[in-house]
Amino acid sequence: MILVTGGAGYIGSHTCIELLQNDFNVLVIDNLMNSSFEALKRVEKITGKSVGFIEGDVRDNALMKQIFSNYQIEAVIHFAGLKAVGESCALPLKYYDNNINSTLVLCQTMEEAGVKKLVFSSSATVYGDPSPETLPLTEQAALSATNPYGRSKLIIEEMLRDLPAADKLNNANPWGIAILRYFNPVGNHKSGTLGEDPSGIPNNLMPFITQTAIGRRKELSVFGDNYDTIDGTGVRDYIHVVDLAKGHVKAVEKLLSNEGINGAQAYNLGTGSGVSVLQMVKAFSEENKVTIAYKIVDRRPGDVTAYYANADKAQKELNWTTELTLNDMVKDSWNWQSKNPNGYQQ
Ligand code: NAD
Ligand code: UD1
Repeated sequence: MILVTGGAGYIGSHTCIELLQNDFNVLVIDNLMNSSFEALKRVEKITGKSVGFIEGDVRDNALMKQIFSNYQIEAVIHFAGLKAVGESCALPLKYYDNNINSTLVLCQTMEEAGVKKLVFSSSATVYGDPSPETLPLTEQAALSATNPYGRSKLIIEEMLRDLPAADKLNNANPWGIAILRYFNPVGNHKSGTLGEDPSGIPNNLMPFITQTAIGRRKELSVFGDNYDTIDGTGVRDYIHVVDLAKGHVKAVEKLLSNEGINGAQAYNLGTGSGVSVLQMVKAFSEENKVTIAYKIVDRRPGDVTAYYANADKAQKELNWTTELTLNDMVKDSWNWQSKNPNGYQQ
């Protein structure tokens, strides 16, 4: 059985589908602070399989101990965490508490239970503001953080790298850890029943585009058109969430294989291609035949010019590569939003 923390969330729920479709048993722990139980009901509907669910907090030591003694957990995928950059600048302690303490309690419980196979949700944010000559980014690129959210991911990565190093000193069973650095996840399951449902005004580009298309927002603000990029707008490596979810299954399979994963390994999960904001708006409008009203405004503080992945390591070692295109991303995003104008709150 695979324990999925934060499994009711956006990436977690998509990953549950892929795990179930690959015949893994799945147990989710989620405190539902940024998600809805409805997402897991929809996962069950899509797959025709059931998902174990425990409502609770990963920082709850006693609960985590209970889970590891009551269930035969083979590996853990740790999605649970907070992810809003702006909020993390205003409430850094909330971010350090949730993101770092949850990982600490999880790893302590795993070690006590002798379950030492972990997939961790990291982010391309750990590359900070990369200089153009470092693109596409490999896992060896310099690491830095520009905000408390990013710093929480960096600190956790460092902590995770210490664990296999300690095994050698203690002659202990080795940890195997896949640190997955996501580029920009977008899109939704093709059924249109499962998707990204941010509360309040979306920070990220794609939910802002879909909410503008459905009429919940008047227009998209394009943050700056004077970057040194193809059309002056920011460039990112957008990856379809279903491809991303499949990357987790590949990581779990590798961890559970005889070969395993040696120590703590970082893997970039991205397509390798950069897409600008205006290219994304155009792709969305053309594919879905909807107009997106937009205006150019000032740069958003803290934004970086451009980044995209070199994902060769994931291809070579995890046998994973992206399959879905930009058209799939914009089509599936609109399919979800148009069928669920108010997200899960119908
Ligand atoms: P999400 O908010 O949709 O999912 C996170 C889930 O974790 C939610 O269901 C939330 O209720 C739960 N949760 C949070 N703290 C918890 C705790 N202490 N105990 C139990 N449950 C808790 O976010 P997501 O987009 O699915 O992101 C999943 C992970 O991937 C996060 O760690 C995030 O930092 C990372 N990540 C996301 C992106 C992105 O753009 N979505 C990019 C890079 C990395
Ligand atoms: C943001 C986070 C990053 C996180 C990532 C997850 C910041 C500074 N960084 O990155 O830590 O890992 O989300 O996907 O927030 N844009 C607009 N108008 C909008 C929204 C966005 O023009 O209303 C532009 C941005 O300037 C950027 C691009 O769209 O060029 C993508 O933005 P966004 O989706 O917020 O992601 P990131 O900034 O890459």
